[in-house]
Amino acid sequence: MDRPVLFLDSGIGGLPYARHFLRHNPGERVVYTADRANFPYGPKDRAVLERLLVTLVGRLTAEFDPKLAVVACNAASVTALAALRAEFPGLPWVGTVPAVKPAVAASRTRHIGVLGTQRTVDDPYIGALAARFGADCAVSRIAAPDLVNFVENGGDTASPGEQRRVVEPYVEEFRRRGADGIVLGCTHFLFLLDCFTAATGNGIRIYHSVEGVSRRAAALLDAKGIRADRASPAPERGLLVLTGTAAPEARWETRAEAFGLTLHLLEGGKRP
Ligand code: DGL
Repeated sequence: MDRPVLFLDSGIGGLPYARHFLRHNPGERVVYTADRANFPYGPKDRAVLERLLVTLVGRLTAEFDPKLAVVACNAASVTALAALRAEFPGLPWVGTVPAVKPAVAASRTRHIGVLGTQRTVDDPYIGALAARFGADCAVSRIAAPDLVNFVENGGDTASPGEQRRVVEPYVEEFRRRGADGIVLGCTHFLFLLDCFTAATGNGIRIYHSVEGVSRRAAALLDAKGIRADRASPAPERGLLVLTGTAAPEARWETRAEAFGLTLHLLEGGKRP
């Protein structure tokens, strides 16, 4: 059996990334891991988060032997990508960082917004990105832990009205500050993309990293010569792995089905 591609997030945030990747690379299989036991990553201290990610990836590599790893999480990427590369040098890595570059390039007001977790918006990496791509462009950073919790705890399937209620205040705040681009700097927010786009109307554009991350993963498969042999869709698209010992809440089964994955408990070893 071909070795899988590992996707990793604190919860469901990376699922749209894995779906995009599978659509464009139909012969591949994924092991998507939602680190439910440690959700949320955003409020965690840098050193704590780095340590727990190295430990988790050690378990995942031992169990699934992935050929490529995608950190489909901004907070985890800005915090631990360097440590993960150093600890697992044999594994090619793809990180996820907020799409600051295109937003800065396109900004006419020379003001953009980045919406993410506390960990991400506080990280010097974002300031460095902004300075590198446009020293003349202001970058407003706002942390939205309530949006992360909303999505993880059922907001992914909430009504458009409910989604609008949580999204609109953030859009209005960026508008008030004069931003003409909002970068979704947390993968969870992809579940609210339609709502963000609808809320902005004319004048504000939304930026995200799904295509960029998925393309980078595909390019690495080619560069390393590790693409799956088959071109037709793999009969099994992969696993949705949950950490933690608690029985999975019903919504996980629904999510696994919606994304064509099989639910799997890391601690139990078997499908629940
Ligand atoms: N989805 C994650 C990100 O992209 C983090 C959410 C969290 O666990 O706080 O940053």
